[in-house]
Amino acid sequence: MRKLFLFLFLFASAGLFAQPLAIIPQPSQISQGEGSFTLSQATTISFDATKPELKSIAAQLNEHLNKFYGITLPLNEKSKPTLSFRLNKSLPGSDEGYLLKVDPKEIVITAKTPAGIFYGVQSLKQMIPVSQNGPLTIPCAEINDQPRFAWRGLHLDVGRHYFPVSFIKKYIDNMAMYKLNTFHWHLTEDQGWRLEINQYPKLTEISSWRDETVVGHAGRSKTYDGVGYGGFYTQKQVKEIVQYAADRFITVVPEIEMPGHSVSVLAAYPELGCTGGPYNVMTTWGVHKDVLCAGKEETFKFLQNVLDEVCELFPSKFIHIGGDECPKDRWKECPDCQKRIKDNGLKDEHELQSYFITRIEKYLNSKGRQIIGWDEILEGGLAPGASVMSWRGIKGGIEAAKQKHNVVMTPGSHLYFDHYQSKETEKEPLAIGGYLPLEQVYSYEPIPEELSADEQKYIMGAQGNVWTEYIPSTKQAEYMVFPRICALAEVVWTPKEKKNFTDFSKRMDTEYVRLYRYGVNYRKP
Ligand code: ACM
Ligand code: ZN
Repeated sequence: MRKLFLFLFLFASAGLFAQPLAIIPQPSQISQGEGSFTLSQATTISFDATKPELKSIAAQLNEHLNKFYGITLPLNEKSKPTLSFRLNKSLPGSDEGYLLKVDPKEIVITAKTPAGIFYGVQSLKQMIPVSQNGPLTIPCAEINDQPRFAWRGLHLDVGRHYFPVSFIKKYIDNMAMYKLNTFHWHLTEDQGWRLEINQYPKLTEISSWRDETVVGHAGRSKTYDGVGYGGFYTQKQVKEIVQYAADRFITVVPEIEMPGHSVSVLAAYPELGCTGGPYNVMTTWGVHKDVLCAGKEETFKFLQNVLDEVCELFPSKFIHIGGDECPKDRWKECPDCQKRIKDNGLKDEHELQSYFITRIEKYLNSKGRQIIGWDEILEGGLAPGASVMSWRGIKGGIEAAKQKHNVVMTPGSHLYFDHYQSKETEKEPLAIGGYLPLEQVYSYEPIPEELSADEQKYIMGAQGNVWTEYIPSTKQAEYMVFPRICALAEVVWTPKEKKNFTDFSKRMDTEYVRLYRYGVNYRKP
């Protein structure tokens, strides 16, 4: 029996058995061949050295190989087995697609753009055997791959809890590993403003700090910890993060919340509220009645000045302007807001919200940007060019697509990673509620059946959201994100007909070994 095992082992390690590949997200097409290529220090990475992006991709691959396998590949050396990066504009398919060919003599990644090369490298990294002993044999294969959706997003709320720059970078690395390309950075909240704005120093002096934080679940607790909490990102750090993300072909979409979820702003600048305050940065979770005043001109002056700096820092086409959960109580009683309604012939406070968002949209359009907002921006009429993030189910997304507006799907039922991963909640870290197991994320189909073929084109993609009321640490943030990010990756990348949860689960068995090695705090299935 032992001999048989040894025989099978040798047979398998000789590459005579084609081991099924365990790439996540599952590529569009894989055909496996026989044999393997051995990656070693004798392999050179070959690429057009005049292309800085390719040089950066090679450097990142070397960093990975060095950290986890102790090898560094030489660059552009002659007469060695090669791993080639080849740009070819005439390759058919998506700009983000790639063709990866592994034969015993060479590996070639071909793509239209550096992004495609980058994604080919991510697949290649997942083709290295997980067992850490022995040579890095890459099974021979031909992979022809491209994403299903253009917006492959993951969000992080840094308002409720602050996460250090080092963690943001690791978060971005993890996104890149699964070919996600949009980091939605939720930077401002009732409980903390996290972005340095030169024209408004009180945003970092006052708005970024709260006196204390509720202990336990806000729905059940009246206990506070008595410990001041805060933090913010300097503009220098933001630029560094935006560049770090760009090097990984990830766009950072900043979110500046308005008109609700802005109590922290009012704490520093009470003149921007309807009542004039005083206000305090919130110390518990939930929706606050105090919002930015839509009647006062100062509010728009403030937001435009802030957005000027935001646009300087973030080159993204989209700027997220929030728009969710804005109670209308204050506006109903505010003479300035009521005057604005009257002067502009608006019907009610919902139309006032629409006026607010449309005015901000015009301003951002004048700076060459487009707005995206939560689905509440549909109320009172959508701003003309706004894109919608559908979070209260999929209804908002359907309605927006029918109105020919672009949509990102992020329904709470399938893509809120702050929800529990088990029904045995007592065995899990405290969470906001809900139940969102891996399989439920995996089952998500971003294109609603209700849409015609023409309307479906408005679905740009989907995104996982990570609200952090109950996520106080980096370790717990990873726990909530992993492994659900892997399922999300297949939702947004893999062709619909290729998705299969049983097969995914098998590949995940391999992936957990990798994640353990990478030092990622994933939830064990
Ligand atoms: C949201 O979850 N309030 C967008
Ligand atoms: Zn007002």
